[in-house]
Amino acid sequence: MEKILITGGAGFIGTNLALDLVRNPGNNVIIFDNLSRPGVEKNLRFLLSHGYKNLEFIKGDIRNYKLVKEITIGAKSIFHLAAQVAVTSSVNDPIYDFQVNATGTLYLLEACRQNSRNAMFLFASTNKVYGDLSHLKIKQTSTRYKLVERPDGISENELLDFHSPYGCSKGAADQYVRDYFRIYGMKTVVFRQSCIYGPYQHGNVDQGWVVHFILQNLSCNPITIYGDGKQVRDILHVKDLIDAYKKVMRMPEQCAGKIFNIGGGTKNSFSLLELISIIEKITGKKMKYGFDNWRPGDQKVFISQNKKIKREINWRPRISGYEGIKELIKWITLHPEFYSG
Ligand SMILES: NC(=O)c1ccc[n+]([C@@H]2O[C@H](COP(=O)([O-])OP(=O)(O)OC[C@H]3O[C@@H](n4cnc5c(N)ncnc54)[C@H](O)[C@@H]3O)[C@@H](O)[C@H]2O)c1
Repeated sequence: MEKILITGGAGFIGTNLALDLVRNPGNNVIIFDNLSRPGVEKNLRFLLSHGYKNLEFIKGDIRNYKLVKEITIGAKSIFHLAAQVAVTSSVNDPIYDFQVNATGTLYLLEACRQNSRNAMFLFASTNKVYGDLSHLKIKQTSTRYKLVERPDGISENELLDFHSPYGCSKGAADQYVRDYFRIYGMKTVVFRQSCIYGPYQHGNVDQGWVVHFILQNLSCNPITIYGDGKQVRDILHVKDLIDAYKKVMRMPEQCAGKIFNIGGGTKNSFSLLELISIIEKITGKKMKYGFDNWRPGDQKVFISQNKKIKREINWRPRISGYEGIKELIKWITLHPEFYSG
């Protein structure tokens, strides 16, 4: 049996990953999570309800170095997803944000160096490491902003420019993960993820905007748009992300030390206003919304170029934004138990 450790494994991406990996009886999946994100306890209950023999849950905090050392013993693959995930919360409490995202990642890397040095170590980083990209020329249409000089999206060669405490803490972790390949020869991989969406996501006003918008639309509640709503994101269905994770897991030598931008790409890019129209069309309900100030570091456009990841691991997104949103709305409607109480 191969031990696979998923930190933050009860969260949105972690739950989808765990559900996929446990289907292979050769995998021994360990979920490590402190259940601090509201709603993820429902994901965990669901995961454990199947009685999978090859799935184990360990409740703990990534800031607990002693425990982190124990869980890494014998791991063949490590997916590091545990994080403080919201920019807004990072502004309110930058020290906590740093301790979880930066120190927590360093603890895990060090523990891995001592106990599972040969493991594949994938870190879920973020497009926020590129800052607000305000140096790039932008034009606007009636519904969206467009990047004039980067028509096919942002590549890994864009300058790093950490902006917001969340950007700084994830960016520091991103660089540590990369450096553990250079200095210690560990098989570390960094995924700079765009906006991921799908089932088991407990989106709220601070993070997970696609699900947040859908939930508010379905329950006829108003939302606030921070900025003018023309900001664009390339959305990626979590199933497509998991496919890329598994590809990396199967070729750790080839991916070691690499950084990949990963997102839905230009074809799956939407402005907030455009996504609202799509949700309205699918549900048949009008969205109520108002506007407020821009959030710190918010990019007017982020679209991942995806060329490097296509070239290196032959991956591309397969689920179209429209179909993915339609499927997700149906899933949410059929699974109210994940969102009630
Ligand atoms: N979802 C996205 O759009 C997106 C985009 C870019 C990057 N990411 C990154 O991907 C990773 C997973 O994101 P997600 O959307 O699944 O978020 P999530 O909030 O659903 O999952 C994160 C999990 O980490 C756990 N956690 C938080 N602090 C912890 C701690 N101190 N110790 C142990 N566990 C802790 C939470 O309880 C939660 O279950 C995060 O690192 C996030 O920064 C996500």
